Amino acid sequence: MYCVRNVTEDLYWVGANDHRLHLFENIHPIPRGVSYNAYLLLDEKTVLFDTVDWSACRQLLENVEHLLGDRPLDYLVINHMEPDHGASIEEILLRWPQVKVISTEKSFLFMRQFGFQIDGHELIEVKEGDTQTFGKHTVTFVAAPMVHWPEAMVTFDTTNGVLFSADAFGSFGALDGKLFADEVNFDRDWIDDARRYLTNIVGKYGPHIQLLLKKAGTILDQIKYICPLHGPVWRKDLGYFIDKYDKWSRYEPEEKGVMIAYASMYGNTEAAAQALAAKLCEKGVTNVWVYDVSNTHVSYLVSESFRLSHIVLASVTYNLGIYPVMHDYLMHLKGLNLQNRTFALIENGSWAPKSGDLMQKFVDEELKNMTVLNDRLSIASALHADKAAELEALADAIVESMQ
Ligand code: FEO
Repeated sequence: MYCVRNVTEDLYWVGANDHRLHLFENIHPIPRGVSYNAYLLLDEKTVLFDTVDWSACRQLLENVEHLLGDRPLDYLVINHMEPDHGASIEEILLRWPQVKVISTEKSFLFMRQFGFQIDGHELIEVKEGDTQTFGKHTVTFVAAPMVHWPEAMVTFDTTNGVLFSADAFGSFGALDGKLFADEVNFDRDWIDDARRYLTNIVGKYGPHIQLLLKKAGTILDQIKYICPLHGPVWRKDLGYFIDKYDKWSRYEPEEKGVMIAYASMYGNTEAAAQALAAKLCEKGVTNVWVYDVSNTHVSYLVSESFRLSHIVLASVTYNLGIYPVMHDYLMHLKGLNLQNRTFALIENGSWAPKSGDLMQKFVDEELKNMTVLNDRLSIASALHADKAAELEALADAIVESMQ
C-alpha cells in the first residue's frame, strides 16, 4: 500500500520508515527507527528528489507509482548518493529508463564506484549555482561538500521556498505518520535523537556545516520549508533548528551543565562519580548527568558531550592505561572534532594509578581548545573520608569554572 504525504501544493513526501534496522551505519543504535525521505514534485515535468535505502525501495516505488499514475518520471535529482539514499537509483532507472538524472560530478563518480549501473542513461552534471526549470518550478543547486560526503549538494526551489537539505537538518527516529516537526513535540521527543544524529554522523564536519549555513543565511527569508533526508520536515519555527545546527557545528555547548562519564570495574569509581554529582548538586549545580561508559552506547556519550559545557572523566587504570571503553569514547570525541569544553578528572588505581595523567595528556594533545581543571581527585581502589577535601576542591573548581 502506498504511504505518501503532501508537503505543499504539488510536492509530496514519498519516503519510508524503517523500524527493522538496529544500527544506523552498522554502528549507531536507533531504537526509534529512522526515516529515509524522498520527495516527488508533480510540475509540468515530474521530479523525484533522492531515493531511499534498498530495504525501503518497494515502498518508494509504490509511492511514486501511485502519484505518477500514467505520467512518466522525467527527472531524478540526487542530492546525496550515500546508499541509505542512493541504493534505489538503479531500480528507478530500470522502471523509468528515460529519466534524466541530475547530480554532481563526484556523485556520478561515486555511483560508478559503488557499482550502480547509470551509464547509458541521461546524466546531467550540475555545479554550484546551476538552475533547472521543471515548469512552474525553478530550482538552484548549491554545493554542500562534506555535509556529509564530498559529493553532496542541496537544492533550493525558488518558486515555493523548499530547501532539499540532504543530510543537513536530519534526525534519527521514524516519522510514523507525523511528517512535520510542528506535528510532534520536537523539543521534548526529538531533539536528543536529532543531536545524536548530527553530532555522530556529521559532527566532524562542523566548518562545512557553517559554510552551508552561511549560504543559507543569504536566502533565509526565502526558505519556507526544509526537507531533509531523515526525520521531520520543517515549515514553522525554522530558526529554532537552525540555531541548534549553528551551535553544534561551532562546537559550542547548548547548556551549562556537567556530564560525568565513569569507567568502573567494581563500583568504586562509580561511587566517586556519584559522590561528585551529589556535591555539585549540593552546591547548586543540578544540571548534572552521570553515565557509565561501559553500558552507554558511545553515540549517546558523544551527543551529551556536544550538549553540555563540562565533562568529568572518571576512570580506573587498566593495563597501566585508560580503561579501554573510556579510551574509545575519547577517540570518538577526537574523531568528531569536539572542542571548547572544560574537563575535570578522577583517576583510580590500586597500585599504579596512571589514568589521570593519560587522560590529561589525551585531552591536552589530541583534542582542540579544551581546558582541564588543575584539581584532580586521585583515589586508590576506593574513595574514603580522607579524600573529602579533594572531592570538595574538585566540586568547587567545577562550580567556579561555570560562573
Ligand atoms: Fe543519510 Fe550521509 O546519508
